Amino acid sequence: MVSRRKFYLFLFVFLLFLGIVVWAQKNFQPVQYNHKLHVEDAGLSCTDCHVNVETHERASIPNIAVCGDCHDDPETDNAEIKKVVSYVQEESRIPWQTVHRVRDYAYFSHRRHVTLGQLECETCHGNVSARELPFEKPYVEINMSWCIDCHEQRAVTTDCYACHR
Ligand code: HEC
Ligand code: HEC
Ligand code: HEC
Ligand code: HEC
Ligand code: HEC
Repeated sequence: MVSRRKFYLFLFVFLLFLGIVVWAQKNFQPVQYNHKLHVEDAGLSCTDCHVNVETHERASIPNIAVCGDCHDDPETDNAEIKKVVSYVQEESRIPWQTVHRVRDYAYFSHRRHVTLGQLECETCHGNVSARELPFEKPYVEINMSWCIDCHEQRAVTTDCYACHR
């Protein structure tokens, strides 16, 4: 009997754990944002939303000032759009998680790679225009050998001080 009770206890804990994992994944970002719909169907370009990408180190993730241009009508059946509209109306920021991150001790600049280096977003972030769900992990794992490999291929500096200033 005791072992049976233990079994059910184990099963309960296991299912609870599984439930939490699934829930956490689904709710990783506050809104189920869909790139495909906005880029391919609504015809927006990357820079309409990631406004700093050509001029700054950080690309920036758009928030209510941008979303509010199109999503200000609470009369909608779409639960995800409802969420966006209520952030807009309450003037509270959408708490996006940033997924792609370089450690603080290394220097990376979008301007350098996008504007000067003429690299496409897809090279580092994959086919974003086809994504229907938010990012949960980076498209490629960001580590030093990823940076160095491309620099070697394209005859860009691999001097330590270029990235570790
Ligand atoms: C230029 C207009 C425009 C802007 C700006 C815009 N959207 Fe949208 N969005 C649309 C259109 C068009 C649709 C699809 C039609 C609809 O259902 O309203 C849509 C649909 C959505 C949906 C529903 C997705 C689905 O799969 O059904 C979400 C969620 C959403 N937008 C979030 C956002 C967020 C978050 C922002 C700001 C970062 C944003 N939108 C900015 C035009 C826009
Ligand atoms: C050479 C590779 C590379 C290219 C090309 C590139 N990115 Fe990035 N992206 C990164 C890296 C690395 C990070 C993490 C940067 C950090 O932590 O500062 C990042 C982070 C981001 C982020 C996270 C938030 C932020 O503010 O930085 C967004 C959004 C983004 N990129 C969008 C874009 C868009 C849009 C383009 C094309 C116009 C683009 N990226 C081109 C490598 C790249
Ligand atoms: C897909 C290729 C690619 C990847 C991946 C890449 N880079 Fe670069 N990087 C370039 C190119 C091309 C340039 C030269 C841009 C130009 O013309 O100024 C460059 C330039 C730089 C520079 C300026 C170098 C100088 O001459 O002072 C720094 C710093 C830098 N990258 C850091 C990074 C870091 C950090 C990473 C990884 C997080 C990274 N890069 C990943 C292609 C890449
Ligand atoms: C309507 C606004 C909008 C447009 C247009 C748009 N994005 Fe985004 N992007 C977002 C939002 C909101 C997020 C955060 C949620 C997510 O991950 O999907 C995001 C996230 C990202 C990220 C991950 C950021 C992180 O956390 O590291 C990348 C990379 C990115 N976008 C690239 C692109 C590229 C490339 C294009 C053009 C093909 C593009 N985006 C067009 C709104 C937009
Ligand atoms: C093109 C850019 C680039 C160059 C050049 C570069 N690094 Fe790095 N390095 C990075 C990035 C980005 C990280 C952070 C990786 C991460 O977040 O895991 C890093 C991490 C490190 C670390 C931490 C441990 C590790 O391996 O993650 C050390 C130590 C280091 N670099 C030393 C060096 C030395 C020494 C040189 C010169 C021989 C050098 N780096 C050249 C981009 C660069």
